Amino acid sequence: MPRERATVTCRVCDGTVHEFLDLGRQPLSDAFREPDCDTEEFFFRLAVGQCESCTMVQLTESVPRDKMFHEDYPYHSSGSAVMREHFAGVARRFLATELAAPDPFIVEMGCNDGVMLSTIHQAGVRHLGFEPSGRVAELARTKGVRVLTEFFEDSTAARIREAEGPAQVIFAANTMCHIPYPNSVFRGVDALLAPDGVFVFEDPYLGDLVEKTSFDQIYDEHFFLFSAHSVRAMAEHHGFELVDVERLPVHGGEVRYTLARTGGRTPSAAVADLLAEEDARGLSDMETLRGFAAGVMRVRDDLVALLRRLRTEGSSVVAYGATAKSATVTNFCDIGPELVSYVCDSTPAKQHRMTPGKHIPVRPPTAFRDPYPDYALLFAWNHADEIMANEQEFRRSGGRWISYVPNVRVL
Ligand code: SAM
Ligand code: TMP
Ligand code: ZN
Repeated sequence: MPRERATVTCRVCDGTVHEFLDLGRQPLSDAFREPDCDTEEFFFRLAVGQCESCTMVQLTESVPRDKMFHEDYPYHSSGSAVMREHFAGVARRFLATELAAPDPFIVEMGCNDGVMLSTIHQAGVRHLGFEPSGRVAELARTKGVRVLTEFFEDSTAARIREAEGPAQVIFAANTMCHIPYPNSVFRGVDALLAPDGVFVFEDPYLGDLVEKTSFDQIYDEHFFLFSAHSVRAMAEHHGFELVDVERLPVHGGEVRYTLARTGGRTPSAAVADLLAEEDARGLSDMETLRGFAAGVMRVRDDLVALLRRLRTEGSSVVAYGATAKSATVTNFCDIGPELVSYVCDSTPAKQHRMTPGKHIPVRPPTAFRDPYPDYALLFAWNHADEIMANEQEFRRSGGRWISYVPNVRVL
């Protein structure tokens, strides 16, 4: 008999969360293991549901934050030239707008290696990054960025308000969706943000996930999958208003949400437009989410069939980009070193380790050329243009890329 699942409560509004996709037993997506490591690996059940009250899509189980974000957290935001340019642009825009007043102050949660705040620092503007992961925080400091190695939450934010005054901007990229305690974060934002300040965050967009069947955006760190509807509800729950939205091409499709205190600013037309588009698509409907889940099963079956066929034919297959996303793909699809010999990745902190759960060796990109494989499975599909531009010789040598977003195909 199937075990009855406990009712899951929404982390935003306490409503009931209904599960629509089970991705099974999964490891920590960024826990790359040393080859000789014999400690037991941590696993949890990765499943996604939607709140029947506020529509927020969220994991049904959360992983303790210290297991994910710690001294050894290996993700370096500056590893992509496209992302470096993206965040320099974000900083320049804040400098020209919200930070144009005298003695402005900007706070970033999840500043990582300082990819955004380094431009703010160079402009001589007062700033502070909250970054609990020690090693990446240290990298930010080497760029002159002021960083607190702490989690942003109600108490830490209130302390900074007390000591340093209000912030005109609180920014978070690929971090708000990582935080399963948004109510504490909003209390912190409420304490620290200037009365007319803005809280801006950008994260993977549920609309893109559904459109592209990009289920690999779902992993331990991505606790929430936001839409304009669910973010509006979350904002209203805390006395804020969604005043602007902007779709972004980065990381496979994101939305930048701008929140202000209720009544403080006039919402842009883009907000109403995106809400209407989501309504027209039925993005908040359980039926749509169940359809997405069915698509995920198809992608898994197609990908495994292709990799098995290539193995039978004797082709060499490796992967490119040891992304956190690929932990979901390899563990859900049961893809190990027998189907993909190794994954190459430019991040030193991941190299010469093994991928979480499936233990595929991670090698530096130099290994990719020595010799080129027949096929390369593109785990970092969100950086496809940048990677393919850097690796043009692979195709010239007869190699072929494999993608599984939005469907499985040889490029
Ligand atoms: N903002 C960077 C970017 O977009 O590339 C980094 C994103 S990284 C995926 C998420 C970062 O958020 C990690 O460096 C992690 O340590 C940090 N983080 C997690 N929880 C946090 C919290 N409560 N406050 C501040 N940072 C947090
Ligand atoms: P992300 O999709 O979470 O940003 O992770 C991308 C991963 O791919 C990260 O581990 C760095 C790696 N990578 C390369 O190996 N080569 C590249 O050219 C780029 C852009 C990323
Ligand atoms: Zn809810």
